[in-house]
Amino acid sequence: MTSSGPSMKEKLFNLAVSNIVSNAVSIGQRLNLFKTLSEISSEKNPVLPEQLAEAAGCKERYVREWCNCMGCAEIIEVNEEEKFWIKEENVDALANSCFELVMNGMMAPLLEPIDSLVECFKKEGPLGLEYSQFSNFQSFMGTMSQALHEKHVVSDMLPAIGNGIVEKLEAGGVRVLDVGCGSGFHSSLLAEQYPKAHFVGLDIGSDAIKQAKERKTKAGTIFNNLEFIECDAGKMPEIWTDSFDLVLIFDACHDQCRPDLCVQEIHRVLKPNGTFAMVEVLGSSNVYTDKSTMGSLAAMMYGCSMFHCLPVGSNCSEALCMGAMWGQKRAVDLLKKCGFPEVRVLDTPYFPINLMYCAQKI
Ligand SMILES: C[S@@+](CC[C@H](N)C(=O)[O-])C[C@H]1O[C@@H](n2cnc3c(N)ncnc32)[C@H](O)[C@@H]1O
Repeated sequence: MTSSGPSMKEKLFNLAVSNIVSNAVSIGQRLNLFKTLSEISSEKNPVLPEQLAEAAGCKERYVREWCNCMGCAEIIEVNEEEKFWIKEENVDALANSCFELVMNGMMAPLLEPIDSLVECFKKEGPLGLEYSQFSNFQSFMGTMSQALHEKHVVSDMLPAIGNGIVEKLEAGGVRVLDVGCGSGFHSSLLAEQYPKAHFVGLDIGSDAIKQAKERKTKAGTIFNNLEFIECDAGKMPEIWTDSFDLVLIFDACHDQCRPDLCVQEIHRVLKPNGTFAMVEVLGSSNVYTDKSTMGSLAAMMYGCSMFHCLPVGSNCSEALCMGAMWGQKRAVDLLKKCGFPEVRVLDTPYFPINLMYCAQKI
């Protein structure tokens, strides 16, 4: 009997190749090599690596090796004269920092503490990892959130929350909290869009808050309706009770050690009839279902969780150890237990890896 598809050895080899090519793609994105190549070349006018290196401000020898890797992997095109170009139909994906391109940069920051992660697996090993062990995580996450969410937060996500949120933000005078704000991408985007509303970004990480405070408006000025606070979401300031009209979380509940305390605190700091909207990773809370409904996206997100979300969310003895793929059932159960008896689960097809949970404080 012949089996269909590649053998396991072929599959493993292809994985190893993809891993290397993927990281090389990320180098091209970080150095603007794709964008530069798209600007200086075409099928009719292919260029030598030295021309690309010159235009990108890089060394020829390194750029030549990168071009050779990208050409052999059929990411860019190469001809017999060893000249390169990007196919017209591939320019948009390669030159414009889409989510699919940016994702190729995920593994470098996540692999930084890999030896410590291996120790975490062992029975006598540490419980988990510190955020500080991932020194480039916050800036990468900011780039990824921008690629994932920028185009749809204002136009699609906010109207989907309902409860007159868009009108309230436009009218002004409302207070909005962004929990686990990271480097502040979402709160800054919203603060710029709604200058009459006041935004607070909260994060436990000092490096996150430092980066967030350095953010400026697109025009280059400092926001005057936005503040950032270093604080544990499970223990927010006492004076915040009943003070926020809207609390948002973007991909930042599952990787807290105590997401239950965080949601209880969100309930406390919301005004009566205030709105809670949580954007979280897609998932059903059952790996078999995830495999059949999400396919390779499920493998990717369980993997990201294993490398980062699970170890940072397991790093104390009382941790709930959720992981990124905690899924809809566990998330709804947690929200119900922590003060929100009615939870709406909304599909967010414009966010490729997310869905959204919405609830009111009664
Ligand atoms: C995956 S990142 C998401 C960051 C940001 N919301 C975004 O989407 O770009 C999760 C964030 O949650 C923060 N975080 C984790 N545990 C926290 C806690 N107990 N209190 C506040 N923030 C926490 C981390 O520091 C990190 O910035």
